Amino acid sequence: MQILAKHKMLERNATLLLVFSFIVVTIGGLVQITPLFYLENTIEKVEGVRPYTPLELAGRDIYVREGCYVCHSQMIRPMRDEVERYGHYSLAAESMYDHPFQWGSKRTGPDLARVGGRYSDEWHLDHLRDPRSVVPESIMPAYGFLADRVIEPAYVQQRVSTEAMVGTPYSDGMLAAAVADFRAQADPDADAQGLLERYPGAQQRNFDRQPQLTEMDALIAYLQVLGTMVDFSTFEPDPAR
Ligand code: HEC
Repeated sequence: MQILAKHKMLERNATLLLVFSFIVVTIGGLVQITPLFYLENTIEKVEGVRPYTPLELAGRDIYVREGCYVCHSQMIRPMRDEVERYGHYSLAAESMYDHPFQWGSKRTGPDLARVGGRYSDEWHLDHLRDPRSVVPESIMPAYGFLADRVIEPAYVQQRVSTEAMVGTPYSDGMLAAAVADFRAQADPDADAQGLLERYPGAQQRNFDRQPQLTEMDALIAYLQVLGTMVDFSTFEPDPAR
């Protein structure tokens, strides 16, 4: 009761309340802001995590533009039901090159953090054109128009350099080859050696089965890389953390 009486004093004196509120807010602010200065140390380095290829990056922009995050999260929480359904819980490093992150806050549809490799490109094509054709009870909208939208890599280089500006480690070589890499990834006849050196494990093929390079290619390339960068058969969390 002693402490309540003291609190009464605070509540009855506007100036005192203001001063103490300020102190509380300052402490809260520091607790939130200080760790941001140590981000480099808080995100565990994980083998395999690499920046997105230019085509995957374009696909990610389409994902954001179409508002896929409104219905889909990309963050598997370390709880048994989630891990059994979606796979290994998400690591901080897996979204360190996402600007902005796509963790999401709503799951009308399933989490997509590890959807890469779970379905074939054909499945994605069918599903995006007409979700009901593969999942009869689906309420997901159709995105078939993406297959009619040819993309020219006019701004790909600028797009990649913008990512570099906010801290994603794209090298000068990656910047210089951005347009070539963009085209090569969706063209099974192109020489992929440079692409694979710059982006280990990048998947190269004609994602939408059409000769033109479309937004559908980019989106499927992005979906197919989600959650596949880290090899969880060999991954061990750092015991020091
Ligand atoms: C209105 C909500 C909504 C929006 C917007 C939406 N989806 Fe979905 N999505 C769903 C629902 C519900 C399901 C589950 C049924 C199904 O598979 O169609 C689903 C399923 C999926 C799946 C299969 C996941 C799995 O593990 O089975 C993928 C992939 C997917 N959506 C991608 C996308 C992409 C890409 C976009 C944006 C272009 C998008 N979704 C936009 C609701 C949505």
